[in-house]
Amino acid sequence: MSSRKKNILKVIILGDSGVGKTSLMHRYVSDKFSQQYKATIGADFLTKEVTTDGDKVATMQVWDTAGQERFQSLGVAFYRGADCCVLVYDVTNAKSFENLKSWRDEFLVHANVSSPETFPFVILGNKLDVEESKKVVSNRAAQDMAKSLGNIPLFLTSAKGSINVDTAFEEIARNALQQS
Ligand code: GTP
Ligand code: MG
Repeated sequence: MSSRKKNILKVIILGDSGVGKTSLMHRYVSDKFSQQYKATIGADFLTKEVTTDGDKVATMQVWDTAGQERFQSLGVAFYRGADCCVLVYDVTNAKSFENLKSWRDEFLVHANVSSPETFPFVILGNKLDVEESKKVVSNRAAQDMAKSLGNIPLFLTSAKGSINVDTAFEEIARNALQQS
C-alpha cells in the first residue's frame, strides 16, 4: 500500500524571465507552443493527471510563475506545500544559468519545507533547439552546477521542439510523488 499523503502534487516552476517556463508548462500540459512572448503576471497553475501504466495516480498542479520582478505580485506564499521545484535556465542566456542558485535559495527561504537538504529540485536547460553558435552554457557547466547544488537531476529541453519535455516532467512527477 502507498504511504502517500496527498493525491495532488504541487510543482513550482521558477527561473528568470524569458527562459521558457510558461512554454514548458504548455508543452507538457497541452502539447502546444507559441513563438510569441507574453510575460506571466503573478502566478497560476494548470493541472495534468499523472499516470502509471495507464492508471491515474495523482493530479499534478503545475505552478507557472513570473520571472519579471515587477509581475511577481502574488508574492511567494504559494511556494508552501510544494512537492517539487523546477529551476529553469535558457541555454542561450548565461545570466539565467548563473541565477539558478538564487532561485533555489529564494524557494527554500519561503517554501518552509521540512528538510531543505532533501527537498527535490529538477533543473531544466531550455531552448535546446537553437543553433549551436547561440548556446552559451555548456553541458559540462550545467552538469557541474546541478551537482554542486546538491545532485539535482538535469534535463536539456526544448519547449519549441518538444525535446525531452515529457521525460523531464516524468522525473518531476516521480520526485513529487516521493516527496508527497
Ligand atoms: P516570464 O513569464 O516573463 O517569466 O517568461 P517565461 O519563462 O514564461 O518565458 P516564455 O515561456 O514566455 O518564453 C519566452 C520566449 O521564449 C517566447 O518567445 C517563447 O516562444 C520562447 N521560447 C520558449 N521556449 C523555447 C524553446 O524551447 N526554444 C525556443 N527557440 N524558444 C523558446
Ligand atoms: Mg511566463
